[in-house]
Amino acid sequence: MSALAVEHGALNMGQGFPGFPMDQKLIDLVHQMMSKGHNQYSPMPGVLALRERVSDIYARLHQQAYNPQTEITITAGATQAIFTAISALVHEGDEVILFAPAYDCYAPAIELQGAKCVWMNLQWPDYAIAWDHFKKLINHKTRMVIINTPHNPSGRMISDADMLELQHILHDTDVILLSDEVYEHLIFDDHVHCSAARYPDLRERSVIVGSFGKTLHCTGWKTGYVAAPQHLMVEFRKVHQYNVFVANTPIQHAIAAYLEDPETYTHLSAFYQAKRDRFANGLQNTLWSINDCQGTYFQNLQFSSEITMSDVEYAKALTIKHGITAIPCSVFYPDHHDDRVLRFCFAKTDDEIDRAIAILNTITP
Ligand SMILES: Cc1ncc(COP(=O)(O)O)c(C=O)c1O
Repeated sequence: MSALAVEHGALNMGQGFPGFPMDQKLIDLVHQMMSKGHNQYSPMPGVLALRERVSDIYARLHQQAYNPQTEITITAGATQAIFTAISALVHEGDEVILFAPAYDCYAPAIELQGAKCVWMNLQWPDYAIAWDHFKKLINHKTRMVIINTPHNPSGRMISDADMLELQHILHDTDVILLSDEVYEHLIFDDHVHCSAARYPDLRERSVIVGSFGKTLHCTGWKTGYVAAPQHLMVEFRKVHQYNVFVANTPIQHAIAAYLEDPETYTHLSAFYQAKRDRFANGLQNTLWSINDCQGTYFQNLQFSSEITMSDVEYAKALTIKHGITAIPCSVFYPDHHDDRVLRFCFAKTDDEIDRAIAILNTITP
């Protein structure tokens, strides 16, 4: 879709990264760290100061202790963390349960291990999990369950009740939970981020993945982290050591210094909520159906069933005829389930959001 957007000079609300500059202070810190000589390999699990800052975040936001020495590892982005976790913990013949729509990097990593993806579809607008159905998918081959909250692409969050249900269902099993929480600091209204870290029985079986790219508006830096109990982290590091060894050293030092001020991440929800509200309010008088975006920087919009095109065809038509690009959500389902939903990224300048509103107001979806 991005290639099509470029070809037609369309406003790209599709690709999920910030369209505004990141904090110059953090850029300056990277320069400083390089000048100070932090340019060689860091320790394999990451710069200790940064692991300590991650540990602080879990203590502050979730009242959970993760030992920076043994339970946190810095990675080359969340994608590497996810690939490494799956490579370390999932093996040939295993089954992994995952929910669609899903971010695209889970399934290829599972299949590469010779394991099987067991999909469960969730649907517009609530993307609610039918736990009775989920229970039936678990058997002796089930090795892992992958969740993502707040959720890309739907913008929905897994509730406390859902996490308790998941904890209850997994209680008597050896199933590992991979919890993709890269949007952990982009939470709106009165919602609480129900990290797997908060639930004692889940915490002991969870690999939790975070991304500084999402939190600090620097997706291109590809720096993330994993928090997991020691028995899982030992396995994770066995693969991490040989597929990247270490993440980028000066960037780790710079982020560690930057995160000393918790305001650097605690202000994010208000910042993005203002953008979410600006976008959604601007569409109130249109025929687009707007779902409740609880977290992330994605707003999903549904077009009318009177339009006979698939979501992919419609997204292409919007780009070519109207000059605005979004991602059709059927691409996040393995069976291309189509609820006529498009994902718009509102991590854009206010000017871009206003231009998007102006275009969308001229369309009868
Ligand atoms: C749900 C989800 N997980 C993981 C990632 C990857 O994050 P990173 O850029 O840190 O690899 C993304 C990026 O869009 C995402 O949306």
